[in-house]
Amino acid sequence: MNKKVTLKTLQSMKGNQNIVMITAYDALFASLFDEYVDVILIGDSLNMSFAGKPDTLSVTLDQMIYHTQAVQRGAKKSFLLVDMPFGSYMDKKQALKNAVKVYQETLADAIKIEGGKEKADIVRYLTDNAIAVFGHVGLKPQSARSEGGYSVKGKTEEEEQSIIADALALQEAGAVAIIVEGVKSGVATKLTKTLSIPTIGIGAGNGVDGQVLVWSDLLGLFEKFVPKFVKKYANGSNQVKDAVKQYAHEVRSGIFPDENFRY
Ligand code: KIV
Repeated sequence: MNKKVTLKTLQSMKGNQNIVMITAYDALFASLFDEYVDVILIGDSLNMSFAGKPDTLSVTLDQMIYHTQAVQRGAKKSFLLVDMPFGSYMDKKQALKNAVKVYQETLADAIKIEGGKEKADIVRYLTDNAIAVFGHVGLKPQSARSEGGYSVKGKTEEEEQSIIADALALQEAGAVAIIVEGVKSGVATKLTKTLSIPTIGIGAGNGVDGQVLVWSDLLGLFEKFVPKFVKKYANGSNQVKDAVKQYAHEVRSGIFPDENFRY
């Protein structure tokens, strides 16, 4: 499938075909993923898994733009979704100025902002000004410091109501899709049935319209912790370590480069 994935494609997939999303932060990995996924998310998770920071909060807009430009050189057909970093959409005017910068300096198809009802006015202002916006409800990593960590949402009736109200407010404001993170699967399923726009889950069960995973989790490269929702499709860290160990051994013992690898 080499046809460019557009917003229309994603909208037509709701209820028909699960949407496949993965994060990527550079051209090389984007080029490897592009054939198999619908959406590449240039997520602010890059601040943790790429830059080694303790949370997502310190990544800058210019860094997100730099990584998006790298990804777009590798991805030919995937829909490109860019996270707006913490502090870049605090009010309507700032959000629009920064979203326009993303659109002008990259090939982003849409931007993503975290938050619910309290962000509805900002989403409305962006969508009124020709920016395609994905919402992000449930566990919001940019709230990790203010909430004192990361916790699964939707465990109480009150939380369930609040998540559904948040997502409905975003849809009403013109959001084109919603990321549902770290939410009890029953709640995410109910939410998906309530909304007319696609939901894409991470740690939200299989009753949503699609799934997203952080690439380094999916490939088993991130070793610090493995959340319950992460399925490792490769044992990347062991494969990388074994390969580099073998290389180091062959260099030290003079095995590499043998005649096959010489001019
Ligand atoms: O930054 C990111 O990778 C994300 C996903 C966890 C959805 O927002």
